[in-house]
Amino acid sequence: MIVAGNWKMNKNLQEGIELAKEVNDFFKENPAEAEVIIAPPYIHLADVARSLSIVKLSSQNSASETSGAYTGEISASMIKSTGAEYVILGHSERRSYFGEDDDLLFRKIKLVLEQEMKPIFCCGEVLKERESDMHFEVVKNQVETALFGLSPEEFSEIVIAYEPVWAIGTGVTATPAQAQEMHAFIRDLIRSKFGETAADDLSILYGGSCKPSNAREIFENPDVDGGLIGGAALHAEDFIKIVQSF
Ligand code: PGA
Repeated sequence: MIVAGNWKMNKNLQEGIELAKEVNDFFKENPAEAEVIIAPPYIHLADVARSLSIVKLSSQNSASETSGAYTGEISASMIKSTGAEYVILGHSERRSYFGEDDDLLFRKIKLVLEQEMKPIFCCGEVLKERESDMHFEVVKNQVETALFGLSPEEFSEIVIAYEPVWAIGTGVTATPAQAQEMHAFIRDLIRSKFGETAADDLSILYGGSCKPSNAREIFENPDVDGGLIGGAALHAEDFIKIVQSF
């Protein structure tokens, strides 16, 4: 079980350190069943890392090149050097606002793996695709393009987050049945490519308007192995409650 908080473009440095400390100190005193991860903005990573002992650190993105003349970009090796262990890749906001596609994401995933960090690969359909019954096909294409070129060893480091785009930041959550159905579909897909053990060992997180009030009914599903939390991760109390719903 994994619960990861994606802070997106929120919190200045001082606020970020404060939130990280609050979450870390709580779970130091009250160990969680789940692995707890926070993903602050890049610029806070190194400072936030110093406040963490039990909570793990993730970035929200990383560059598609290793180093050089790419003004404004942050490489996987730079992220690694802050103490981060995870990198979120392919979030729908990266896909829609910054034009990231699954071929690009495959390159990013390889670079993150080379740095011995774990990619949290996000996939999910937009509302129109669900309404026209294309959601399985869309997610299948995303997973195949971004992940099927990996070796079994590389794949064993991957975490997948299913985030229906229509549920992100909208207050509309997928029903537990919708989440379970898609998670089972993704696990089957992985089984067909990487085998039984890889499918069983894979963590598939649900993301999209997860809150303290609905986390339990989503996490209860057999193929839901945790959550990727946006808005509710900005408040220590809500985030802690979500982690504790296991
Ligand atoms: P949300 O975001 O919880 O605010 O819907 C989830 C995400 O984008 O990862």
